[in-house]
Amino acid sequence: MNVLILGSGGREHAFAWKIAKSSSCNNLFIAPGNAGTAEVGNNVEIDVNDFESIKKFTLSKGIEMVVVGPEDPLVNGIYDFFQEDEELQNISLIGPSKDGARLEGSKEFAKEFMIRHAIPTAKYQAFTKKNLEEGYEFLKSLDAPYVLKADGLAAGKGVLILDNLQEAKTELKAMVADAKFGNASSTVVIEEFLSGIELSVFVLTDGDSYKILPSAKDYKRIGEGDTGLNTGGMGAISPVPFADRFYIEKVEREIVKPTVEGLKKDGITYKGFIFIGLINVKGQPKVIEYNVRMGDPETEVVIPRIKSDLLNLLKGIDDGTFSEKDLNINDQAATTVMLVSKGYPQSYEKGEAISGIEDVTESIVFHAGTKNENEQLRTSGGRVIALTSFGENIEKALAKSFASAEKISFRGKYYRKDIGFDL
Ligand code: AMP
Ligand code: GLY
Repeated sequence: MNVLILGSGGREHAFAWKIAKSSSCNNLFIAPGNAGTAEVGNNVEIDVNDFESIKKFTLSKGIEMVVVGPEDPLVNGIYDFFQEDEELQNISLIGPSKDGARLEGSKEFAKEFMIRHAIPTAKYQAFTKKNLEEGYEFLKSLDAPYVLKADGLAAGKGVLILDNLQEAKTELKAMVADAKFGNASSTVVIEEFLSGIELSVFVLTDGDSYKILPSAKDYKRIGEGDTGLNTGGMGAISPVPFADRFYIEKVEREIVKPTVEGLKKDGITYKGFIFIGLINVKGQPKVIEYNVRMGDPETEVVIPRIKSDLLNLLKGIDDGTFSEKDLNINDQAATTVMLVSKGYPQSYEKGEAISGIEDVTESIVFHAGTKNENEQLRTSGGRVIALTSFGENIEKALAKSFASAEKISFRGKYYRKDIGFDL
């Protein structure tokens, strides 16, 4: 099979690394990819939102499956673009339809979906500048901290958690009336603050049946002890100790099943990954968000734990055999530690020379933001390299990831030395 993966991060390197191992993989392309994906496939210089160029490339190379990494092209309707095109409609595209992608593209849509299908979530209301005063009243009815979410995509920055009522009112106004996050915040979801440990559950579905992939926990803040600014994710572990079999069965019963059935009832086509962000509130899992893709860096621990042939599983999604396929998981724990550029998630330098990768023997090196310039590997993003390791438990796996992190050098390298500290 000829496969095209869209995206350029650690997630896409992990997908490419896994798919390249499949006996059914013939030619593998990654658009635009990074220096890591170029080691397991062929990079193509195409933007993930340039559907016409993707079409041309897909047809010219006889691509039979497109795996979409990031949310943007999904929210922009790449699934529908393929379905509506006679030449593309028989090509398997792994990802939801534009309607399905609204689970991530609109927080209000996601909340309405959860309420409609009785899926546990924080209580909420949505506001625009037309009912700003009601928004203030709703804030008053809640206890601090206050959670304000821009309805649309805001590059991971659209969620504000504020301790003070006056500040919450000021921010609400800035979001709906003064376009703090542009169009994305013309509607704002205000919701009850949920206190508990976070957990990410990943589901792969063909729209009918589903498989629950390994769970993971991501460490989002830049600073140790979960302090400082939010990032895309500084490290991840899998499995999550408190999410034992009984807990995951509860998540399946109360959240996964109603989600997949809800999509079906609502007539929404969904053939891809669902990333369910949960908070465990005193043993009760509640959904804080849906993403319509895999997480990054969660993919760097989830995918390596899958023993089954991923491409074979994905093939089943379109040929009607998905429910018959096995999903075998490695019992070992996996951890990943992200090396980032100095200054990230704010401004940072690019183009720093990277060395030492060849000395890493105990971890898988997933590239997140790298590129090769005249045979020299250089940084090209805020998140640079994810180091994934296995161990009989999380501590042992982490020890390997940290040891590998010391072996790689680039100017301004930073990583959190406390991934897994809270477990
Ligand atoms: P998101 O950008 O949707 O991933 O949200 C960013 C972070 O905000 C989440 O990872 C949670 O840590 C936090 N968060 C979102 N909603 C809530 C909530 N209702 N209660 C507590 N924390 C929340
Ligand atoms: N690591 C969080 C995300 O991918 O959204």
